[in-house]
Amino acid sequence: MKAAEAVNIEDLRRMARRRLPKPVFDFVDGGGQDERTLAANCADFGSVRFMPRQLVDVSNRRMNVRVLGQDLALPIILAPTGLTGLFGPGGEIAAARAAAAVGAGYCLSTVGTTSIESLADAAKGFWFQLYVQRDRGVTRELVQRAAAVGCPVLVFTTDTVVAGNRERDVRNNFSLPMRPSLHNVLQFASRPRWLWRIATGPRIAFANLVDSRKGHSGFVSIAQHTAQQFDPSISWKDVDWLKTIWPGRIAIKGILNPDDARRAVDHGADAVIVSNHGGRQLDDVPSTISALPRIVDAVGGRMEVLLDGGIRRGSDIVKALALGAKACLIGRAFLFGLAAGGEAGVARALRIFIDEIDRVQALLGCPSIGDIDRSFVADGPPTWPANR
Ligand SMILES: Cc1cc2nc3c(=O)[nH]c(=O)nc-3n(C[C@H](O)[C@H](O)[C@H](O)COP(=O)(O)O)c2cc1C
Repeated sequence: MKAAEAVNIEDLRRMARRRLPKPVFDFVDGGGQDERTLAANCADFGSVRFMPRQLVDVSNRRMNVRVLGQDLALPIILAPTGLTGLFGPGGEIAAARAAAAVGAGYCLSTVGTTSIESLADAAKGFWFQLYVQRDRGVTRELVQRAAAVGCPVLVFTTDTVVAGNRERDVRNNFSLPMRPSLHNVLQFASRPRWLWRIATGPRIAFANLVDSRKGHSGFVSIAQHTAQQFDPSISWKDVDWLKTIWPGRIAIKGILNPDDARRAVDHGADAVIVSNHGGRQLDDVPSTISALPRIVDAVGGRMEVLLDGGIRRGSDIVKALALGAKACLIGRAFLFGLAAGGEAGVARALRIFIDEIDRVQALLGCPSIGDIDRSFVADGPPTWPANR
């Protein structure tokens, strides 16, 4: 099966599983500890029920949105993902191109495999996600480099002060460089196409950090890198500091608590991204869709609210927008596409979302996605996300 034949995101996931060595697939697919939050992120979308309107003229449908000053043709930004080049041909550049082709946003990770400058040669208007490094000089340089190429939005990720306990990775001995054991040599040998691509393609490294003057290596294990360079002392003072050195908009990613959302407003952030890192960090935190309504209420229109986590259907995005999100970021869904078919696979993932959103809008009686609100979802029991 080719990526273009995928009917839904789950098809792309199955293709990704067939194409990637198990340790690599598990790194993308897995989550923290018992993976309960990972599962809840997806499952809780199912407990939100639509409340459609009939006899609305839906012959002319629009899903364009304006997010953080940027016009997008659809309410989707490809989420920042580290090590993207490992998952499919072209890595970040392929993904950013596929996003640009349909007018979606793209956010580059600090620990991506493509440098800010190389991506800027291939794509315009992408956002930059920052992991504040212990060395604030290196952090400042990263921020300045993103500003120099014209990134409009800095995404400050706050939920990764230490690495999550990802037991699949521990069991698979997943690290960079791969530490061969008989078991994982066999797992890698069973994916010769992937091996060939990695062996003959550009070196997989943390491209934004590898060349910095402080001499960070691109070849350290992910957990080691997180422990060595990510700064567990980050605080709201860093938001204040970033505001002094960053000329564009700032979004804080990893917010689940409404009090933190209020603090983000007080510290002058332009947006919060309701996120639990796709269930990869602290397990047993709420799913993002269940956390969203209270955060939207807490900020009361004083800043934009975005959401990621568990989005596998266009209807998930429509539900998040109905509950007050401006737009959504998608992580694994596009990575599965990338693994299944490179740029064409990411394009397929996006096409699936576009078609699904469009159909939901029509059936919901909501021709303009900008007009969606809570009246398009049904009241439910007290445990239902909007009421929690
Ligand atoms: C393989 C992988 C790598 C990720 N790397 C980063 C990263 O470098 N920075 C970051 O802020 N979030 C990172 N994330 C989290 C995503 O930005 C996003 O929050 C999450 O994937 C959303 O959940 P979803 O995968 O269910 O869509 C990563 C997620 C995955 C799956």
